[in-house]
Amino acid sequence: MEKVKLSIQRSEPSAGVPVRYDQFEVPYEEGMVVLDAVHYVENNSDPTLAVRWNCKAARCGSCSAEINGKPRLMCKTRVDDLGENIKIEPMRAYPVVKDLVTDVSHNYEIAKKIPPFTPSPEMHSPYTIQQIDITRSKEFRTCIECFLCQDVCHVVREHHSDYYGPKHVVKIAALDLHPADCIDRSEVLYKQGGLGFCDITKCCQEVCPEEIKITDNAIIPEKERIVDHVYDPIGLLVKAVKRRKW
Ligand code: SF4
Ligand code: SF4
Ligand code: FES
Repeated sequence: MEKVKLSIQRSEPSAGVPVRYDQFEVPYEEGMVVLDAVHYVENNSDPTLAVRWNCKAARCGSCSAEINGKPRLMCKTRVDDLGENIKIEPMRAYPVVKDLVTDVSHNYEIAKKIPPFTPSPEMHSPYTIQQIDITRSKEFRTCIECFLCQDVCHVVREHHSDYYGPKHVVKIAALDLHPADCIDRSEVLYKQGGLGFCDITKCCQEVCPEEIKITDNAIIPEKERIVDHVYDPIGLLVKAVKRRKW
């Protein structure tokens, strides 16, 4: 392959610039990733192209986009895995600011609603934590907040305000697994977080660049916790008795 043909979605809704696709040809170099090709366009063909990136090492989670229709990191997607023709579009779940840059601030609003780490009054810092507890939650703490799982989720795409989304379930699962934490977040996740809308399609798990088993290890256990805490009749009876003042 000598050249890469890029088709890049361009638009700027706030300035009334409608969606169009611009075509660019970029010389291929061995080991090239999609972000390299986009940088070539910025530096040599069109400096007005808007793209968000920071680390170019799959660490910061900034360069998320739809590449040939699939949510991926531009800096982790090799050109030679895609072939000569590459279509690059912004994430579909979020409003476009300009070209490939989307407004993901909705996620920061959700993050504010999640009860933070709250240590049990009996536990005192520094906490003594068993290795097994660290291992269980470590997977969730590798999240780079790229929002690709949010982008691919059909519930997030269609019912933005009803479901927090898989990235936030991962965050909640990490907090719930902390042995010093004493908050029960299952009601928040069930009532405000809309976890009931998730139908366990596992699409989010398939696109995660950190290979977090989002559905298997975060969503399904959180759903089970909700069943225990919200529906279990014996548990509800015990809670009611404990609340009753004799
Ligand atoms: S498993 Fe749930 S959160 Fe993940 S993509 Fe499917 S509906 Fe969305
Ligand atoms: S869970 Fe995976 S896909 Fe979702 S934001 Fe974190 S790193 Fe990205
Ligand atoms: S530029 Fe940081 S994840 Fe791609």
